[in-house]
Amino acid sequence: MSQLLSVILAAGKGTRMKSQLPKVLHRVGGKAMVQHVLDAAKGAGAVRNVVVIGFGAESVATSLGNQAEFVVQAEQLGTGHAVMQAKELLADFDGTVMVLCGDTPLLRAELLTKLYTEHRQAQAVATVLTANMPDPTGYGRVIRNSNGQVIKIVEHKDATPEERLVTEVNTGIYCFERSALFAALAGLNCNNVQGEYYLTDVMSILASQNAKVWATAAEDFQETFGINSRAQLAEAEKILRKRKAVELMDNGVTIMDIDSTFIDADVTIGADTIIYPFTWIEGASSIGSGCEIGPNTRLQNTTVGDQSTLHFVYAHDCTVADQVTVGPYVHLRPGTSLATGVKIGNFVEVKNSEVGQGSKIPHLSYIGDTDMGQKVNIGSGTITVNYDGKHKHRTTIEDGAFIGCNTNLVAPVTIGQGAYVAAGSTITKNVPATALGVARARQSNIEGWVSKRKE
Ligand code: UD1
Ligand code: CA
Repeated sequence: MSQLLSVILAAGKGTRMKSQLPKVLHRVGGKAMVQHVLDAAKGAGAVRNVVVIGFGAESVATSLGNQAEFVVQAEQLGTGHAVMQAKELLADFDGTVMVLCGDTPLLRAELLTKLYTEHRQAQAVATVLTANMPDPTGYGRVIRNSNGQVIKIVEHKDATPEERLVTEVNTGIYCFERSALFAALAGLNCNNVQGEYYLTDVMSILASQNAKVWATAAEDFQETFGINSRAQLAEAEKILRKRKAVELMDNGVTIMDIDSTFIDADVTIGADTIIYPFTWIEGASSIGSGCEIGPNTRLQNTTVGDQSTLHFVYAHDCTVADQVTVGPYVHLRPGTSLATGVKIGNFVEVKNSEVGQGSKIPHLSYIGDTDMGQKVNIGSGTITVNYDGKHKHRTTIEDGAFIGCNTNLVAPVTIGQGAYVAAGSTITKNVPATALGVARARQSNIEGWVSKRKE
């Protein structure tokens, strides 16, 4: 059985982005452009993925890590030259090489699967994915003979006025049989307007040898868009956002306003969850079913269970279980884990803390570096004093403890199971289970003080 491998061209600088960052690392739909391309290649069944890097090589390689193999193209001498760099690495590979560009983030696995399937059915040595562009300016044109057979691809800059009338363009995506590809690449020259080694010339070389050269058209030309500028990046962002929203709605998620909802490509959301406007769900986040998220909520790398409600919340790197309510105006910081049935009310910050089942932090509290048991009640204005200026310390609050309002818990400190802390206390010593901790000055009343003062 033949195997599929991808070569992703990503060595160019992307001058028009006017950026220090290599073009393919610009993020869209929550991921670097090249990551979208790699994901599409993997989705189409590529068993190996080779990325050709050049400009900003190190940062591209770091960004993709062990998801791909890398070859460096030190000088950008053209797309053909770029593919040649993979020759040695692929010397033993027996199968189909799919060539892609790192700047086409709208690409989907289904389209690549269609290309690969047609390539194999046609038993071609080379198949180009084409698209019919209303305005083909700038693209390479696919030139066919009178029998409809592809004979060459001619770059816009090299094309005759007649060739420029052709609206079927090269998307820059192809399937090649490996041995035929590298044999043809060896025959490239750079006798063209741009003085580059064009990958596209492989098609005419193979066609002139009577090898089978094939073309298949993408139905939706939008999917193969290459991003060259920030304006195009913003357009792609819109398309990806909308696509994600439609996918989620098709799976039973209600999105009240897709124009003000920003959900990254890899986020998962269960059925019957409602997303209110002005909500961002980013990175490796997942939301269960029957939840209400938003309005005005931003979740990054956060997992939420079923039937939880988060409104006016900013949470990052957190875990929220089932039937939890959070908000409004809550900040959940990294390392926070809220167990089933927890309630976090308004103006609360929780950082690096475990909050046990059914516990409540209803108002105006800072809980940091805390291990909280089940059914704890935290009074309004409770602060865990976790930082002594040098080190962070943990606070332990055991099951069923009741913390009175306006309390400072100076860590390290433990409030035992079922213990009470009197309102207004600054607790510096452990409170044993079922005890009452009081740490405040006793009140004294001075009779008649006000009337004396007035005299
Ligand atoms: C290329 C095609 C053109 C097609 C268009 C589709 C060629 C000669 N032309 O043109 O027919 O219509 O794509 O978008 O192939 N790259 C390298 N190293 C290089 C040169 C390019 O890695 O030396 C990478 C770029 O980073 C980019 C991709 O290859 O990701 C395409 O290169 P680009 O210069 O944008 O090609 P186009 O002129 O757009
Ligand atoms: Ca391009």
